Amino acid sequence: MYKNKNILLIITGGIAAYKMPETVRRLREQNIGVRCILTKAAKEFVTPLALSAVSGEKVYEDLFDLDDESEMGHIQLSRSSDLVVVAPATADIMAKAACGLANDLASTTLLATDKPVMMAPAMNVRMWEHAATQTNVQTLKSRGVEMIGPDEGDMACGEFGFGRMAEPLDIVAAVKKRLGTEGLLSGKRAIVTSGPTHEPIDPVRYIANRSSGKQGHAIAASLAKLGCEVTLVSGPTQLTAPDGVHLVQIESARDMLNACQKNLPVDIAVCAAAVADWRVDVEADQKLKKDGSGQMPDLKLAENPDILASLSQATKNRPALVVGFAAETEKVIEHATAKRARKQCDWIIANDVSPSTGTFGGNENTVHFIAKNQCEDWPRLSKSEVADRLAHKIADYLKEVSS
Ligand code: C5P
Repeated sequence: MYKNKNILLIITGGIAAYKMPETVRRLREQNIGVRCILTKAAKEFVTPLALSAVSGEKVYEDLFDLDDESEMGHIQLSRSSDLVVVAPATADIMAKAACGLANDLASTTLLATDKPVMMAPAMNVRMWEHAATQTNVQTLKSRGVEMIGPDEGDMACGEFGFGRMAEPLDIVAAVKKRLGTEGLLSGKRAIVTSGPTHEPIDPVRYIANRSSGKQGHAIAASLAKLGCEVTLVSGPTQLTAPDGVHLVQIESARDMLNACQKNLPVDIAVCAAAVADWRVDVEADQKLKKDGSGQMPDLKLAENPDILASLSQATKNRPALVVGFAAETEKVIEHATAKRARKQCDWIIANDVSPSTGTFGGNENTVHFIAKNQCEDWPRLSKSEVADRLAHKIADYLKEVSS
């Protein structure tokens, strides 16, 4: 099954590097081709000879090895594999990758690659829990990097906690899953809406909401990972566009609707944006002024177009699958079920966004999946895990309806 699949394995300098020859052997048993890059620090824990013996390939070590550069330059090396796996991934390589540093073969390759990247972190529990590392992990995840582990357990340094590299067989399973699902949505097109909208009052003021865009961006990344061609129509957020996703930045609900309509036809529409329900009917040309009379500006509101409902109810170019979100603060399932029927989307993902849940702006989400006559409670997951689950469900659904 994996006969023509090749991975590039970047081994960085953690004690867990000693497990990599075994991991390579297991990958080779699956017929997955493996080429290794070894950092200088990794060579303290594992030898190039052992890795080339088990992989049957040359092991790459130094950026300025002229022979390697003419034979197989670092750009070529990073692009000629189906997947790049960093294991063990030290705090250092994650920090470099998050910042875009490129001062050795491993980090240069990570910056130059256009292939999916997986990382198996391995480090001391305090280093893993440090805010710097956690921020780097979030940055990398938001760009589509998939983390394998780390596991919890005893560490080489004598401490206990999260930071142990995932076991070789778990790494092999994650790689197989990724190689096997790659392309599940190839040939399909999707629109994902994300973030808040800004509705102008005058040239300097606007109405907005607290949406971070994290869930919508994660869904765009997950669909793209499965080979889908994704247009992400996003309101203003702090986030960067996930890898391989076409980003269209908009401000208002009306811009969002226009951008969605321009990108039709698509197979899939996922409306995760927190679109403002109302806008100011007439935007003032100049900044509104206090005139000292104590009189308030008369801001008349007008209803915004409902993007989810208009895509769901389109008579021309209706996507094969339209998915909405329902952010509720009470009677979550009941309200979301009614919303799905009213807007006529196929599925709705309902979540409780009461401030105590920490969902708005946070990295986790507890959702219910609602379709016609169906409701599944999903466990509390990271927003990227919710996105991956949803993307796989979408792939399964489209496969089923097309067969
Ligand atoms: O009606 P409510 O805002 O709760 O519905 C939420 C769902 O509808 C989300 O999927 C959101 O993206 C979508 N929506 C929309 N356009 C609007 C309002 C909501 O696409 N104007």
